[in-house]
Amino acid sequence: MAKVLIATVKPFSAEAVEEVKSIFKEAGYEVEVLAKYPDQSDLVAAVSDAEAMIIRSDKVDREVIEAAGKLKIVIRAGAGYDNVDLEAATEKGVVVMNTPGQNSNAVAELALGMMVFLNRNGFNPAAGTELRGKKLGIHAYGAVGRIVGMIAKGFGMKVYAYDPYVDPVVIKNDGVVCEESVESLYSKCQYISLHIPANAETRGSVGFDILNSMPKGATLVNTARKEVIDEEGLKKVFAERDDFRYLSDIAPDCRDELTELYAGRTFFTPKKMGAQTAEANLNAGVAAAKQIVNFLEKGDTTFKVN
Ligand code: 3PG
Repeated sequence: MAKVLIATVKPFSAEAVEEVKSIFKEAGYEVEVLAKYPDQSDLVAAVSDAEAMIIRSDKVDREVIEAAGKLKIVIRAGAGYDNVDLEAATEKGVVVMNTPGQNSNAVAELALGMMVFLNRNGFNPAAGTELRGKKLGIHAYGAVGRIVGMIAKGFGMKVYAYDPYVDPVVIKNDGVVCEESVESLYSKCQYISLHIPANAETRGSVGFDILNSMPKGATLVNTARKEVIDEEGLKKVFAERDDFRYLSDIAPDCRDELTELYAGRTFFTPKKMGAQTAEANLNAGVAAAKQIVNFLEKGDTTFKVN
């Protein structure tokens, strides 16, 4: 009987876990749930006899892969797979997949929610500002970026996007202005919502020059990854501009410094929570479970990323 490990430091909702378990029960697999585990060594121990594994932002590094003698597949229940050592997995013949689009709406709603929250001074009664009529630039027009654009239009924002990997026709068909360079996007838009993945090309790529080119009232919204920000550049732009604001679901390493020096111009969620909704847990968990069954039973490699 194949064993599937569900390893989630940040647990899925009880409903999602039950639904995932029932898919595996029907397929005749054994399931172990390792949630909220205190130490990486718990994951290393639990993976030893697993043939398949579902994770979220859990770290699947070389040590985990090497401890997993029977592992055939890892599913990152979510979009970003920068937490998985793809090279180590590939070397050991382990297939890695994500579940694109399954938690996107939750992340997109949080991006807009944080913008309203900051614009209304953390929901205190002082006069705030509105989103209507403002320009929003979407940096990377994937599943999350696209929904952010749709919601922003409901707020009456003017929406722009830059994504060299998406056909401009797709962007234009959504009624979004397609920008040809990252520079033109930032220099035009007061609000920028970041949706780039963290990889060798993007790490530290959002820095002083590009941020400083944003118009007055510049607000950067990050529901992607903290690693894509050059924090020295971020600190410099805060120091030089009293209008610059930063909202993030993945607090920067310089969080305490920014919070202390620039009160009212930052908001950071206490813990990454963009995808933490009942709906997203269920969608991503169920998709992951079905992908495992389809892979183990039929060799289906849709959504393979390595
Ligand atoms: C993702 O890449 O899917 C999101 O960042 C959500 O991550 P999480 O599953 O750890 O909440």
